[in-house]
Amino acid sequence: MEPVRVGLLGLGTVGGGTVSVLTRNADEITRRAGRAIHISHAAAKVYDPAGIDGLDTISTITQDAFEVVNNPDVDIIVELIGGYSPALELVMQAIRNGKHVVTANKALIALHGNEIFAAAQERGVTVAFEAAVAGGIPIIKALREGLAANKIEWVAGIINGTGNYILSEMREKGRDFNEVLKEAQALGYAETDPTFDIEGIDAAHKLTILGAIAFGTPLQFDRTYREGITAIEPLDVQYAGELGYRIKHLGIARWTKQGIEMRVHPTLIPQRRLIANVDGIMNAVLVYGDAVGPTLYYGAGAGRYPTASAVVADLIDVTRTLTIDSENRVPHLAFQPHALADTRILPMDEVETSYYLRMQVVDRPGVLAEVTRILGDRAISIEAIIQKEQLADTVYVPVIFLTQRTLERNMREAIAQIEKLSFVEGSVTRIRVETLA
Ligand code: HSE
Repeated sequence: MEPVRVGLLGLGTVGGGTVSVLTRNADEITRRAGRAIHISHAAAKVYDPAGIDGLDTISTITQDAFEVVNNPDVDIIVELIGGYSPALELVMQAIRNGKHVVTANKALIALHGNEIFAAAQERGVTVAFEAAVAGGIPIIKALREGLAANKIEWVAGIINGTGNYILSEMREKGRDFNEVLKEAQALGYAETDPTFDIEGIDAAHKLTILGAIAFGTPLQFDRTYREGITAIEPLDVQYAGELGYRIKHLGIARWTKQGIEMRVHPTLIPQRRLIANVDGIMNAVLVYGDAVGPTLYYGAGAGRYPTASAVVADLIDVTRTLTIDSENRVPHLAFQPHALADTRILPMDEVETSYYLRMQVVDRPGVLAEVTRILGDRAISIEAIIQKEQLADTVYVPVIFLTQRTLERNMREAIAQIEKLSFVEGSVTRIRVETLA
């Protein structure tokens, strides 16, 4: 059988890795796909040929990505340019031209996936995006196919390697936030705009995709709540450890009777949980299905070869399905397009979690009683209170509260009241707590 012909857009870190993996594993890949997969055309404005094996097998490399997308000799387009524009125009043009698409572009799928999938459905082509979430971990395939028997109850993931690396280095080595971020950028893990990593935007893109696939809803990035890790202080990392917790930047999607929770934020999790011990640049996704119970997926969430592993797996998948009628392929969002549900996504005020609170207070009788009264008035039950030693050069002592589960609205109101107390200095640090049981 003739090789399937691929047009590759982007020859950067992941594009170069994709060419290399397809070249070095060509025989294995052909045996799996049933025919050879050949990158016949590529487009890149600039690229560094060093370290790309098999670049010489690509017959045409152009600077014009539309030339590749419009080439009738190309069967599948691999979009590894990233960003929204021109990636969106290229993907839509490829679909109009009847080409299948493989992409690693999480921002594009999270924000424009509904429109892209509708167009693909209409044209009878597939858009595959395994590499968009958690790099080399086959989490899309696991959720969409391996766990298809289950009603998914929740998904909780460490899905941004850069953020996890920063938090791990702060905890293990007491290192400075900015210094570690610079290192992650130098290693090629951080996004072009690193605020995407540290403000939780990248994780929210990925969670939007995971949540839609887990619960069979359209993609709704604008309803995914997000907080980054910039407000996490070394003191909180230390106190969390003393209380038996680790602070992780989690993406959580949870089904409840009231609606779906979609939220990305720093979270205290018990240090005995496996996922609490996922450190450095690694990613992990914990999925709870009603039949299977908890399953955990761990691996490299970024990097040249891990991400190329997912891109090439998608290429093999698409190649295998080329002869299958489009109605019988695995649906893009796991559920049949006409069966997607319009389940409500809960506003953060209606989400229920436990909390870690840290405040600086004047050390005198009655202070804690006043704070506990404010919490008690809102039926917020306290799990533990710890008073630490006085902070150097101040009259304040840090006090930490762990609370039981309560609505975010109650906690927001309680914190506003606590911050008005004359003996409380500055703002209250609030980090949500999840047992992931
Ligand atoms: N910037 C991302 C991360 C890369 O740090 O996880 C992979 O999406």
